[in-house]
Amino acid sequence: MEFDLTIRPARTSDIALIHNLVDASFDQMKFLAPESRKSRQKSFGLTFLHNCLAVDDAIILVASDPTDRVDAVAIMRYEGGVIQITHAAVRPGLQRKGLGTIFVREIFKIAKSLSAHKIYGFIRTHDVASQMLASREGFSMVASCKRWWDHEDYAMWEKGI
Ligand SMILES: CC(C)(COP(=O)(O)OP(=O)(O)OC[C@H]1O[C@@H](n2cnc3c(N)ncnc32)[C@H](O)[C@@H]1OP(=O)(O)O)[C@@H](O)C(=O)NCCC(=O)NCCS
Repeated sequence: MEFDLTIRPARTSDIALIHNLVDASFDQMKFLAPESRKSRQKSFGLTFLHNCLAVDDAIILVASDPTDRVDAVAIMRYEGGVIQITHAAVRPGLQRKGLGTIFVREIFKIAKSLSAHKIYGFIRTHDVASQMLASREGFSMVASCKRWWDHEDYAMWEKGI
């Protein structure tokens, strides 16, 4: 599908919109325990997002429309030649149209430009959408992490670059 979107690094002026998008994604994620949503909100709060833009090892990529509305976001950390994707979200009305795939491929380009040798992320075992996307884009499940973040079950997925 064709999108009239620009994929670019986040700016300070995007932070409130990113925060809204990330927060809305938590509704969709259907956490097993009710306290998990609150814990996520704390982890991905405004202070965290502002700090990401202030440090060299954090990368926030957004897809914005011509009015600068943020329609997708990926939050990453780059350390020791490895990129960790910590959260990704596509605006609900735009999901399942290929934007997540475009984003993942953009992350591959970033990884190459940084000479990173690996990309990884932790995916909840209930998150079928992310697992399907990761698997289709060449990630492999390499470890099982039982009762990890907020006591939920995750698996670690990685792809060599
Ligand atoms: C996960 C997410 C980022 C995927 O983005 P997207 O733009 O919908 O992904 P794409 O359209 O590129 O989908 C690519 C493939 O992923 C899989 N997929 C995506 N959404 C799916 C769903 N709801 N159910 C099952 N598979 C799904 C499919 O294999 C799909 O290919 P297909 O449409 O040809 O079958 C998006 O669903 C989202 O924002 N979810 C809410 C937040 C979240 O759960 N984030 C991940 C936790 S960090």
